[in-house]
Amino acid sequence: MHLLGEARPCYVPGAMTKTTEAQAASKKRIAVIPGDGAGVDVTTEAVKVLRAASAASGLALELEHFDWSADRYLRDGTTLPEGAAKMLPEKFDAILFGALGDPRVKDNRHAADILLGLRFQLDLYVNARPCQLLDARLTPLRDRAERDLDFIIFRENTEDLYVNIGGVFKRDTPDEVAIQEQMNTRKGVERILRYGYEYARRKKLSRLCMTDKSNAIPHGHGLWQRVFAQLRAEYPGIESRHLYVDALAAEMVRDPSQFQVIVAPNLLGDILSDLGAQLVGGMGVAPSGNIHPRKIGLFEPVHGSAPKIAGKNLANPVGSVLSSAMMLEEIGCPAEAEAIRRAVEASVRDGKTTSDLGGAMGTREVGDWLADRVARHGVPGK
Ligand code: NAI
Ligand code: MG
Repeated sequence: MHLLGEARPCYVPGAMTKTTEAQAASKKRIAVIPGDGAGVDVTTEAVKVLRAASAASGLALELEHFDWSADRYLRDGTTLPEGAAKMLPEKFDAILFGALGDPRVKDNRHAADILLGLRFQLDLYVNARPCQLLDARLTPLRDRAERDLDFIIFRENTEDLYVNIGGVFKRDTPDEVAIQEQMNTRKGVERILRYGYEYARRKKLSRLCMTDKSNAIPHGHGLWQRVFAQLRAEYPGIESRHLYVDALAAEMVRDPSQFQVIVAPNLLGDILSDLGAQLVGGMGVAPSGNIHPRKIGLFEPVHGSAPKIAGKNLANPVGSVLSSAMMLEEIGCPAEAEAIRRAVEASVRDGKTTSDLGGAMGTREVGDWLADRVARHGVPGK
């Protein structure tokens, strides 16, 4: 299964002369935000592999780095600079992101401003998190083959408990009250469900499972139920199913082969995708894309800044490398994406991995190996 949807042009057709239009279409501009800790380690390797793929195919790739991170925040107070959400889509085709989180920033202020800021301000309502088993040895499940684990979770990415509505009353007293509101809108629920259905249709997949906890959260998740009833009627060719989130978690472990597309509210999708990541080899291999169709997307490994292993040449770069492949596919470079994915599959098959996957290589050595593999095997059709 390919990870993402149709290629989209990054220019306005008809707005330029033929020559400049062709040049613009083949040149891709990427904003790189490595962030903190292991985010920096893995992004360095993903960039290495991206450069190898672009060199092998002749794709003009322009990368610009941004130092938005804990270091920058602690140095001069900058989190997400003013105007960033306007500048990024004007200047770039996509964003490659590492991770944010630093023990020195206790309240995670910079991470909330930068990552949640970009997700919300760019309205990246789809969080696409594929869970694909690259080698049967990597799953902790017994007797499971690669074909048994190949599904994608679409996590709603702009609503739910993440909208930060609420407050604390009588703080630090025995009567303390903390309220955090969960927001669901008809527009928000409909667009993520529709994205899931359209993805299934495009990829010729036949099954979609929507999950919620509407038995216990009847107001918020009741809306999910009503919108789901409407959309499943619009897509009769796709087998629609609903599972409460607790049952879904159990079923993902009991028999993951039954799932192809899962659509989930924000928080539930966050939790389920870590479970999915573990089923296919752990946090080190899980990629993701924050997407709004036809707008700029932000691609990042699912994992965080992993402070314990950061800077020690231990972090697995595969999650970031696969995120860059998702990014390439989304900006209209599917051949380069495929070359990168094949290299990752080969590395896992040959045991050219970091220690979390049982290998003996470091972050940099895996990055070098992948870049070299892409260079030697080239890009399909180029
Ligand atoms: P984490 O994802 O950083 O680490 C969880 C576990 O996975 C740890 O055992 C870690 O060593 C391991 N791990 C993570 N990435 C790995 C890799 N590439 N290779 C091998 N093992 C890897 O999550 P945790 O510990 O909950 O959070 C650490 C920091 O990251 C916190 O500040 C948190 O807020 C932040 N965070 C940021 C995210 C983002 O920027 N998107 C997402 C999740 C957490
Ligand atoms: Mg998470």
